[in-house]
This record gives sequence, structure tokens and C-alpha cells, in this order.
Amino acid sequence: MRTILITGAADFIGSNFVRMMREKRPDVRIVAFDALTYAGNLENLAGVSEVSGFQFVRGDICDAEALRPWFEGGLDAVVNFAAESRVDRSILGAQEFVRTNVVGVQILLDLARQFPVKRFLQVSTDEVYGSLGPTGKFMETTPIAPSSPYSASKAAADLLVHSYHHTFGLPTLITRCSNNYGPYQFSEKLIPLFVTNLLAGQKVPVYGDGMNVRDWIHVRDHCEAILVVLEKASLGSVYNIGGDCEVPNIEITRQLLRLLGRDGSFIQYVKDRPGHDRRYAMDISRIERDLGWRPRIAFEQGLSDTVEWYKRNEDWWTRIKTGDYLHYYDRQYGVGGVVEAAAAGSRS
Ligand code: NAD
Ligand code: TYD
Repeated sequence: MRTILITGAADFIGSNFVRMMREKRPDVRIVAFDALTYAGNLENLAGVSEVSGFQFVRGDICDAEALRPWFEGGLDAVVNFAAESRVDRSILGAQEFVRTNVVGVQILLDLARQFPVKRFLQVSTDEVYGSLGPTGKFMETTPIAPSSPYSASKAAADLLVHSYHHTFGLPTLITRCSNNYGPYQFSEKLIPLFVTNLLAGQKVPVYGDGMNVRDWIHVRDHCEAILVVLEKASLGSVYNIGGDCEVPNIEITRQLLRLLGRDGSFIQYVKDRPGHDRRYAMDISRIERDLGWRPRIAFEQGLSDTVEWYKRNEDWWTRIKTGDYLHYYDRQYGVGGVVEAAAAGSRS
């Protein structure tokens, strides 16, 4: 692999993936493409870019003309992280979710047909399978049954990717991962929201009875799994990725209170999310058997390291909470398209 296009590279998982690629595959040229919506933060890529072979491009995956030059130039791989990804926002309005998560993926797929790439990996989610009862796990063969507008749009993208493989022989791969946590996560999601609230001396809003269960994975483990699938999996395959670590929300809340020295009075039970999926759990035996991957970071250790990261990077998350991060790109580069080098100074 010589050149990789990483779309949605300035987000939580995308930026962690870029960092891991710089470390593990320093010879691979990276084109990091991101629209920098409210969820994208170029500061997440600070420090990555000083080495040659990295290029940041501000652009929208729904804009074929903005993407075309990179496809024309020849790509060995495309990894698509770009998405509208917040369930709560999708409940408020689904339009952007359909635009980016469905139309954007179709545009990427059509470009990959026109200018052949060797591997096209779509980063998907366990949420496409819907919700589980108290027992059982999602397998790759579990029927798709999304329950939120977010997961419905991701499921539609998975089906499009599958159809382009089946109909046109496009060299596609799909990974479906469970809930990620770790450094650089935007503070609307459970763990960063609760950590930053507690650090700021504010209460944490637990939805419903707090007994909804998610399968938590450290973002580093997720990124390593994506790389293994990208390099080793058979074309057309789908792989579940998960932490093998089911935790109810209230248990995470208690662990965070303990790590941050706060008591139970900081818990505020609030009205439940409409259509709230009760339980997610991934069966990861296929990736383990075929590709030899397993998560390595234990949840207690990963959570405590993540809390430490947020403590060390208070100015990073304060800029997010105040909205100041939205001006980072313009401050660094003015308004424009292609940036040869992103910012300096790692925050990790
Ligand atoms: P995020 O919402 O934090 O970031 C999304 C990124 O995509 C941002 O950088 C944003 O600027 C960019 N983007 C949005 N619309 C775009 C467009 N039209 N064109 C170009 N860029 C655009 O996402 P995340 O939590 O880091 O998740 C990344 C991917 O992983 C998503 O596809 C998500 O569905 C998937 N995923 C996330 C999790 C999780 O726990 N966060 C779990 C499984 C799968
Ligand atoms: P979230 O981080 O939004 O991820 P997802 O909806 O993709 O699983 O939520 C994780 C769990 O935490 C989910 O069951 C909803 C719950 N939650 C709260 O209880 N309070 C909150 O403020 C948030 C953001 C989430």
C-alpha cells in the first residue's frame, strides 16, 4: 500500500487511525479528507503532519469534484470514517445523516469504480443490527435491523457497499464496531461528556434507568483491527469488531465518579432517549479466527488512561465545549481547500 485516502480523518476515530498509520506504516502516503463539520477538529491531527507524506484536504464526501483529483492520482486504499454519527442528533433531524452517510458513500463508491482502488473499507457500526435482549450477541450473519435514523443510514451504506461488490466486483470491506472510547473523543458522547462534566464540577445526565448496555472498545484496538482487515481480509467480507466488554451505563458512571473523586450526588437521572437500544454485544469470533485479532486494552485500564488524557488536555476539550475549536482551521490557514501541512505540536 502506497497511498491511502482517509475520509473523516479529523474526527475521533479517524484521527486516531491517522496517528496509528504514521506510527505503524510510516511509508504510506496519507490523504486526510474531512469537511470539518461541527464533529471534525483539525486540532486532532496536530503534530501528525510535519513528516512528509501527509496531506490534509478540507472537503465534503458528497462533492465528487473535490474528491476526483485524489482518485485520479491513484489510490491503493480508501477508508471511509466520514459520517454523521450521533444518535441523539439523528433523532432531532435525519437529513444530514442520509446526505453524508448514504449519498456520500454512493459518491465514494462511484469514484472507486471509475478510478479503481485496490481496497475500499467502509467503517460501520454494531448499531446496524438493532438491539439485543438480555442474552445473545450480534454476529456478521445477524439480520440488519437498525432502530435510529443514524443506524438506518449506516445500514443503508453497508447495503450499498455490498451491492457494489456484488454487482461491479468493487474490492470492498466492511467493519462493524461497538462503542469506542479514548483520546480525542468529542464531548457529546457518554464517556467524554461525563468526564468533562465531572472535571468541571457538573452533574452527569444518565438516560432512563442507566441499565442500557454497550460493548466498549478502546479506539486504539478499533484502529488496529481496521488495519488488519484492510491488509489481510478477503475482498467482499464483513467483520465485527468489539471489546468483548459489556458494561451498563450506570456502572461506567460509577467508575468515572470514583476515578474523578465525585460522589453519587453528581448523578442526574434524565428522561430516556426515544427508541433507546437496550443492549449491544458483539461476537468477534470471525475476526479472531480468520485474522488473529483480539482487543488488547482492558476496560478499567483504558478508562483510567482516558480520564488522565482528558485531565492533561483540558484546553482541548474546553475549546470544544465553548465552540472555539470551530475556528481552528481558519486561524491556522485562512479559508481554503488543500492544506499541505496541518498544525504543529502534539497534544497527546
Ligand atoms: P465523528 O462524528 O466524531 O466524526 C465524523 C467526522 O466526519 C468529522 O470529522 C466530520 O467533520 C466528518 N464529516 C462529516 N460529514 C462529512 C462529509 N459530508 N464529508 C467529509 N467529512 C465529513 O465520528 P466518530 O465517532 O469518530 O466515528 C467515525 C466513524 O466510525 C463513523 O463512520 C461512525 O459511524 C463509525 N463508528 C463510530 C463508533 C463510535 O463509538 N464512535 C463506533 C462504531 C463505528
Ligand atoms: P452514546 O455515547 O451517545 O453512544 P451510542 O448511542 O452510539 O451507544 O451513548 C452511550 C450510552 O450512554 C447510550 O446507552 C446512551 C447513554 N447516554 C446517557 O445515559 N447519557 C448521555 O448524556 C449520553 C450522551 C449517553
